[in-house]
Amino acid sequence: MDKKTLIDHLNEDLAAELSAVIQYTTYAAKVTGPYRPQLEQFFLAEVPDEQMHAQFLANKIVALGGEPTTTPTPVAAAKTNRDMLQAVLEAETRAAAGYIVRANEADAFGDIGLKVQLEDMVRDETGHREETERILRDWPL
Ligand SMILES: [Fe+2]
Ligand SMILES: [Fe+2]
Repeated sequence: MDKKTLIDHLNEDLAAELSAVIQYTTYAAKVTGPYRPQLEQFFLAEVPDEQMHAQFLANKIVALGGEPTTTPTPVAAAKTNRDMLQAVLEAETRAAAGYIVRANEADAFGDIGLKVQLEDMVRDETGHREETERILRDWPL
């Protein structure tokens, strides 16, 4: 694992975290119906975690000599509450799986501090994924 590749991959992760902040912020505004207050709070409660992930990644990219991206990956279009929860589930599943790969890359690069931080982020994203999956489990069709 060379430094350039690691920086590029961390920038892909940063773009996804910036997207997550936008996704949760806009979805929180869009939820409707009798559970709107709970869903709004559920989405907004994720924003600080994702923002901290983005901040960590931006700092690490600069520390490694790279330039942090300012372009988020596109947020999945979703209209209904269920579609939004499903899109969140997919994004969190992707994030958790991606950070497992990235932690192994950090290990191969020889940066154990980065590896440990990325493993922490696997834990965060796994928690987000599990909470979302439990909300969807009994969601009426
Ligand atoms: Fe995140
Ligand atoms: Fe997350």
